[in-house]
Amino acid sequence: MSQQSRHVVVTGAAGLVGSAIARTLRAAGCSVVGVDRLPSPDTSVVADLRDPAAWSRALSGAEAVVHTAALHAPHVGVRPDEEFREINVGATRDLLDASSAAGVRRFVYTSSTSVYGYALEPVDEAVWVTEDVACRPRDIYDETKLAAEDLVLSAAGAMSTVCLRIARCFPEPPAVQARHRLYRGVDIADVTEAHLLAVLGPHEAAGVLNIAGPYPWRVEDRGQLRHDPAALITRRAPEVAAGFGRHGWALPTSIDRVYVSARARAVLGYRPRHGVTALMAEARTAG
Ligand SMILES: NC(=O)c1ccc[n+]([C@@H]2O[C@H](COP(=O)([O-])OP(=O)(O)OC[C@H]3O[C@@H](n4cnc5c(N)ncnc54)[C@H](O)[C@@H]3O)[C@@H](O)[C@H]2O)c1
Repeated sequence: MSQQSRHVVVTGAAGLVGSAIARTLRAAGCSVVGVDRLPSPDTSVVADLRDPAAWSRALSGAEAVVHTAALHAPHVGVRPDEEFREINVGATRDLLDASSAAGVRRFVYTSSTSVYGYALEPVDEAVWVTEDVACRPRDIYDETKLAAEDLVLSAAGAMSTVCLRIARCFPEPPAVQARHRLYRGVDIADVTEAHLLAVLGPHEAAGVLNIAGPYPWRVEDRGQLRHDPAALITRRAPEVAAGFGRHGWALPTSIDRVYVSARARAVLGYRPRHGVTALMAEARTAG
């Protein structure tokens, strides 16, 4: 897609991920229409996605759609399962139909590494989570995100569609965030960069792609990651072990999975930059 005045619709524009993507796309020269049921500085159209009449005109002339709006892991057990199905699955179906009818060329769906579900539970070594690991949803969130992925993938044809399974990027206390940044977390800046590549990159990405990292591990590290990650971290990345010590953060005693973004690297040119080392440097500056 050319860099000139692209019109991109971002759903969930009032949320953590959607607002960051909307701002990044604007900074890249796109004309962004943010849709959300909540007003915010990045919401242009306040509408519930379950009501297509309220938002479908926003798609007129759009070249790409980034669909981040969803009920999310923190809503599990708080909001009825039926609402998860309506928003995460039903509204995604309506959005795909309307996007296809409006002549949208790229549809980027923000999915989650959570869809791997029970497959993330290790037996005797850390799970090496590539996209080839079969998903085994644990809850209504996983189930509906995976059902939406199926719809998105089935809609590929007239428009290109891709599902970005993003790792955890919630704001969390620095010690927790640092531990997560070793194997299951990702910085919001790397998440937005992946979406930018999917919308504007020269290649139309397809299928599902993990968006995580960067992590310093190799597949042969799985056993030690599970049983003695501190020794491995100290040997492989002594500056990281020293940084944890300086901050008074405990190193993990066991690592259960590692999200692998090699496919996104190959397909999108995804190069995450904000790993644990960057996080520690930021914490040092802030402190
Ligand atoms: N934050 C993370 O760590 C993380 C990790 C993996 C995947 N994700 C995925 O990223 C996406 C965004 O997550 P987030 O952290 O920004 O969540 P968020 O709750 O901050 O944002 C979601 C936005 O969607 C909007 N929304 C929900 N239902 C809607 C509806 N019916 N109509 C219109 N708008 C609606 C909400 O108002 C909210 O602004 C979600 O699809 C989530 O599954 C997030």
